[in-house]
Amino acid sequence: PKVLVINGPNLNLLGTREPVIYGATTLADVESGLRAQGEALGIELLCFQSNHEGAIVDRIHAARTEGVAWILINPGAYTHTSVAIRDALAGVAIPFVEVHISNVHKREPFRHHSYLSDVAEAVMAGFGVHGYGLALQYIALRLS
Ligand code: DQA
Repeated sequence: PKVLVINGPNLNLLGTREPVIYGATTLADVESGLRAQGEALGIELLCFQSNHEGAIVDRIHAARTEGVAWILINPGAYTHTSVAIRDALAGVAIPFVEVHISNVHKREPFRHHSYLSDVAEAVMAGFGVHGYGLALQYIALRLS
């Protein structure tokens, strides 16, 4: 099965961006760790990062024709603003896990609301970059 990993805006800066909040691991490290984990689980990983809302919407649409079974998404700041990404995920009807590196609930009030959480299968926040691997482990469980 195929799992699409989507990282939204500013997550390309992972490792150097506000390291106190997001840690020192780079996105390339996160993605290579997930690929190795996926290989061990028999899951093919597709990784995508974009700073552009429309590009993320287009990538979600393409996932349907590619036969993607699950999506793991950290929408970054679009979490709190994007009806378009919510509608795209609902539109393709591919189950997804929403992942946040930081615990958004202990941060600014504007980070407490997500346009995705009520259509997500599961939500993770505050596990640092480990959240990605934990989410992939859960997806593997659901696929088995
Ligand atoms: C984030 C939390 C968001 O509020 C923020 O805009 C991000 C990253 C996280 O992973 O903790 O860009 O999604």
